[in-house]
Amino acid sequence: MEAPPTPSGFRTDKPLLSLLNIDLLAQVAGITFFHPLGAWMLPLSLRTLTFQWHHPPMWGSMLYATIVTVAWLLQSLNHRLAYGKNREFDKSEEVLVITGGSSGLGLLLAQVYGMRGMSVAILDVNEPEVEVRNVEFYKCDVGNYQDVQAVSKQIIEDLGPPSVLVNNAAVVHGKTILDLSEDEIQSTFGSNVLSNFWTIKEFLPGMIEAKRGTIVTISSVLSHIGPKRCSDYSASKAAVRLLHESLTAEVAQYDNIKTLLVSPGQISTPLFDGVDTPSTFFAPVLEPVDVAKEIMSAIDSGAGGNLDLPLYSKWIVVMHTLPVSIQRLLRWVSGCDDAMKNFRGRNATDNMNGKN
Ligand SMILES: NC(=O)c1ccc[n+]([C@@H]2O[C@H](COP(=O)([O-])OP(=O)(O)OC[C@H]3O[C@@H](n4cnc5c(N)ncnc54)[C@H](O)[C@@H]3O)[C@@H](O)[C@H]2O)c1
Repeated sequence: MEAPPTPSGFRTDKPLLSLLNIDLLAQVAGITFFHPLGAWMLPLSLRTLTFQWHHPPMWGSMLYATIVTVAWLLQSLNHRLAYGKNREFDKSEEVLVITGGSSGLGLLLAQVYGMRGMSVAILDVNEPEVEVRNVEFYKCDVGNYQDVQAVSKQIIEDLGPPSVLVNNAAVVHGKTILDLSEDEIQSTFGSNVLSNFWTIKEFLPGMIEAKRGTIVTISSVLSHIGPKRCSDYSASKAAVRLLHESLTAEVAQYDNIKTLLVSPGQISTPLFDGVDTPSTFFAPVLEPVDVAKEIMSAIDSGAGGNLDLPLYSKWIVVMHTLPVSIQRLLRWVSGCDDAMKNFRGRNATDNMNGKN
């Protein structure tokens, strides 16, 4: 039987075994062996089995539980020192703007926040593919500053000044540098990079005035690595990663303005349709709902920070510290340079859904 479409209109027919991956194992370990509560269960269980305090298994398990607890506390301290105190997030007063909110990840965020009764505006060149309740749609090419200026005035008039901005719109062409046309290169940098500047210029002053704001930048794991046929996309995602870094430094003086950088691996949306996933065990394809859940949890808690998912995306930066020969070997083993060979992208999915 055919699997039902996801809210983004994209079909997922994953075999059950593909659910077993390194991220799932790490998640289970994180709430058991590597969580202070789980770690302290071991010495407590030994104690109930009449082990005395001076017995080596008791010492060993208590040392392990202490290390886990200290690491856990240091992690919380690091987050607090790096990103400061969370801002207050008042559901009834927040206004959200999501660029590229008519499909995939952006659509899911808009749908959920709309269902929760919040004021949400979608900025997209296309209308949403499904009905989205309580969400205002503004047709806008976010790569065009005049378009963004006109729409931002309208949003402020209709909904009030936005307090959450999710810079999510993006395009992928999946071609080699020589095959990319000038228009395609311009469109990648317009949609994926310049759009971030235009929306920040329009909405950040209002956030500073209201002393409340969260700016979410959707980058990608490809901001750290440039596979074949991804030159424009990878360069655009690296650009917004560094834009986020400068933005974070510039707003650090405002306690209640938070910035969040999201760098996901492959997500099952139309954007990368046809890509061959090198290893679903080490690099599982993410469901939009899992990414949206993490983003929403950060926005709702008023936190800033970095969200790297799945697990390998936290470690990919380490690759650049290795000798170049090892880096080339890892690229070959991962198959990342062949992954875009069968790329179809949004056009194929739009054709399938009868949009073209
Ligand atoms: N899908 C993945 O595998 C993946 C992986 C890592 C990061 N990301 C990032 O996640 C974000 C969301 O991607 P998605 O997979 O949901 O993509 P998607 O293609 O489903 O949605 C992107 C939306 O952006 C809109 N858009 C593109 N250019 C625009 C413009 N100039 N003006 C207005 N709207 C425009 C499109 O119409 C579309 O609705 C993107 O920033 C993408 O780079 C995606």
